[in-house]
Parts: sequence; structure tokens; C-alpha cells
Amino acid sequence: MSSTRKRLFIKTYGCQMNVYDSERMKDVLTPLGYESSETPEGSDLVILNTCHIREKAAEKVYSELGRLRPLKEARLESGDQMTIAVAGCVAQAEGAEIMKRAPVVDLVVGPQTYHKLPELIARAARAKGEALDTEFVVEDKFDKLPAARQVDGYSAFVTVQEGCDKFCTFCVVPYTRGAEWSRPVDQLVAEIRGLAAMGVREVTLLGQNVNAYHGEPPAGREADGPWGLAQLLRHLALIGGIYRLRYTTSHPRDMGDDLIAAHRDEEKLMPYLHLPIQVGSDKILKAMNRQHTYAEYVDLIGRVRDARPDIAISGDFIVGFPGERDEDFEATMKCVREIGYATAYSFKYSRRPGTPGAAMVNQVDEGVKGERLQALKLLLDDQQTAFNQAQTGQTLPVLFEKAGRLEGQLHGRSPYLQSVHVQGPAELIGQIGHVAIESVTRNALTGSLVLPATVDS
Ligand code: SAH
Ligand code: SF4
Ligand code: F3S
Repeated sequence: MSSTRKRLFIKTYGCQMNVYDSERMKDVLTPLGYESSETPEGSDLVILNTCHIREKAAEKVYSELGRLRPLKEARLESGDQMTIAVAGCVAQAEGAEIMKRAPVVDLVVGPQTYHKLPELIARAARAKGEALDTEFVVEDKFDKLPAARQVDGYSAFVTVQEGCDKFCTFCVVPYTRGAEWSRPVDQLVAEIRGLAAMGVREVTLLGQNVNAYHGEPPAGREADGPWGLAQLLRHLALIGGIYRLRYTTSHPRDMGDDLIAAHRDEEKLMPYLHLPIQVGSDKILKAMNRQHTYAEYVDLIGRVRDARPDIAISGDFIVGFPGERDEDFEATMKCVREIGYATAYSFKYSRRPGTPGAAMVNQVDEGVKGERLQALKLLLDDQQTAFNQAQTGQTLPVLFEKAGRLEGQLHGRSPYLQSVHVQGPAELIGQIGHVAIESVTRNALTGSLVLPATVDS
């Protein structure tokens, strides 16, 4: 342990799993005397936790490195150091290339090896060139991370499953995060109990394919064989202090009946499901290797809604995958109209090096992708507004997470993950209160507290 205080700046790109990883990197570095800083200026260590999912995301890291260079040089001139590390999925995908392209980088660490950061930092201080670790041993990472987590706030992410074996033809994740792997149930219970003891009230379980979770059962239940996500959720719901459970991202192929049933009767499981289809055309679904049809998806959503009629459905969409004709895009628009999304992300297809989609000959013109994306976004925005509008006049339980931007205002989340603003006392932060919804916009709901304001769970 070191007593010298050092400043650490982490910038996080990409998905929630990167948000979790960044928090865990802080946990690894805190015992070495690192304290978080809000800006890179004056930092002893800067970590860029990167995303490789689309070209734009990957390029951001190089422009950020360009901005960091003069800061590092200024520190060197005044006799100080600034160690620059690239972590995450660009690190995994591009490895040593990063150091060649951006010599300002001192070390590169993949998503499965950041528990070795202290050792890598020490190596980087001694000699350049060796400080690269992008191995793929997930078990090692979770075993070697410190048991205690530092969190602030009442809602926390916990990675329960990593990697992906699906190999959708557009996607880099199977290459950057490796094969699917699930954390043991007992390890997760210990982590979440620790979070609850620190005041966390809501946990979102994370995985690239979280509903494919199949973790080692708890001690004494070995005969069960691997536990699925539904069993895990029901078990975690027993932890005192945890009021709400969520999970993301799910794949339609892995949405089992037991998980659907949990949405029917597990009160702590929130009525929100992120279940991307990407496109509505069977031809494109097949070319993407999604391994299901449009009709199967519609049937699945129907069964989920039978179990939990008010559930908010969210999704991801890609426009302009190779071979997508106007009628295929129309099928995506039809899908959106038919399903009705509470919220959704939509992207132009981005050609990722090494994926089968990148090599396909029938790439779609960028202008056409732009037009399709615009039309899709308009439709999705309208649906989001309509979903929010439907809450007007309802009373919703809201978990208050922090003070709002205005004086005396609280910010919280509805069960459907909508942002809710309300005037109320700061003592309600960290608790669930009931809010009568009065007005809505596309991005948030506002209303007033219904008294008595709190419930225990
Ligand atoms: N495991 C999740 C998705 C993880 S990536 C699933 O299977 O649904 C998050 C989202 O990024 C994807 O759902 C997809 O919509 C988008 N995405 C992934 N690769 C992309 C690419 N090459 N171009 C554009 N969008 C992409
Ligand atoms: Fe990527 Fe497909 Fe795996 Fe999702 S399921 S992470 S889109 S390969
Ligand atoms: Fe990006 Fe890696 Fe997540 S590519 S979306 S940070 S798994």
C-alpha cells in the first residue's frame, strides 16, 4: 500500500458493462493511493475505457488521445508523470497497434485483465512495450478483484455474465469479450449483499447476453446444475435492502418461460425488458445470424405481455445492414408499429473489421442509411412520447436517486426506467415514494408526491 495520493481520471465509452468495469478499476487502484478526478488535467493516471462496437465509437479514443498529448507533455515539463492507459474493447481488438498509432499510450489492458493494472502500471514505469495484457481468462478477473466495491448512489450495475457465443455477423463483441461465461451465484450474492449494506437499493444485472446466464449454483445446491437467470433473480430478490432488480441485455433466443414467469410474479423484478430485434425482415435477420424469425419475436413479446401487461419493451435497431432493400427497411418500420416500444436505440450499420458483415459485397449507401435512420428515429421518438403520455394521471412508485437540478427537486426512476422529477424533501433520496404523474415530455415525467411518501420496499 502506498500513502502518496495520486489522481486518477477514467473516461468511459460504450455499454453499461464498461461502466461496471470502470468502477471496478477504481476499486483496484484505490488501495494504491489513487483518488478520482473529474478532469484529466493534473492526473497521474488517465484510463480510457473504450468501445469498439461502431467505427465512430472506436475512433473517439484516438481523438481523445490527441487531446491528452499536450496535457501529458505539460506535466512532463513540470517534472510530473501522466500514465495513459487504454482499456476495454478497442484495447482488446487493436492491442499493440494502439501503441504504434499513438505513442502517447503507456499501457493497454483488455476487459478481462484489468485486475492486473497495478502490475502493468509498474511495468510501464520501467520500460515501454511490455505493458500490454489482453488475455482472456474471465474467471481470474472476478476472483482477483477486491471484494469490496466503492459506490455512490442507490442504483448499481453488477456484471453477471460476460462474452458472447452468438456471432451475429455485424458484431465485434464475441471477438472483444470472448466466449460466454457466467459468474457463480454465491459470488454475486456476496457482491450484492455488500452493495445493499452500502445503501444500494436497485441492482441491474449486466451481460452481453444476460438471459443466457448459466452460473454455478449456490453451495448446497450443486445437484441443481447451472442456474439460469430466472433462478438467480428470484434468489437475489431475497436479499434484504434490495428493492428493485433489472437486467440487460437479453437475446430473443434465450428468453425462457421461467424468466417470463418471473415477470409475472416476482415483485422486485421491474417491468422493463430490453429485447433487441435489430431488423424486422426475415431475410436480414438470417443474414445477421440472429437465429430467429420476426414471427417468433412477435410471439415472444406476446407471451411476455401476457405475463406482465404493462411491461415497457425496449430495443436496438440497425439500418442499412448489407443487402437491406427498401422493403426490408419497411419491415423494420412495421415491426416498430406492431410492437410499440417504450424506448429504443437505433444505429446505422457500421462495418467492423473482421466480422462477416464487413466482407459482404452488397453494402448499403451511406445516404440511404441516413434517410432510413431519420425515419426510424422519428417513429421511435413518437412512441416514446406516447408511452410517457400514457402515465399521465397514474401514480407510480419512484426510487429517488439524487437531488434534481432545480432547488428542492428530486430525481428518480419509475418502474419503467423513466426519469421522474418531483419537488420533495432530500430525506427521500434512497427511498421509494409514490408520485402522481402530471405532465410528461419525451425524456421525463413530472408530478407531485402522494403522502405518505415512502414505502419500505
Ligand atoms: N447483445 C446485444 C447487443 C450488444 S451491442 C444483443 O444481442 O442484442 C449493442 C447494440 O449495438 C446492438 O444491439 C446493435 O443494435 C448495435 N450494434 C452492434 N454492432 C453494430 C454495428 N456493426 N453497426 C451498428 N450497430 C451495431
Ligand atoms: Fe453481438 Fe449478437 Fe452477441 Fe449481441 S448476441 S453481443 S449483437 S454477437
Ligand atoms: Fe462496446 Fe465492448 Fe460494450 S464493444 S458496447 S464496450 S462490450
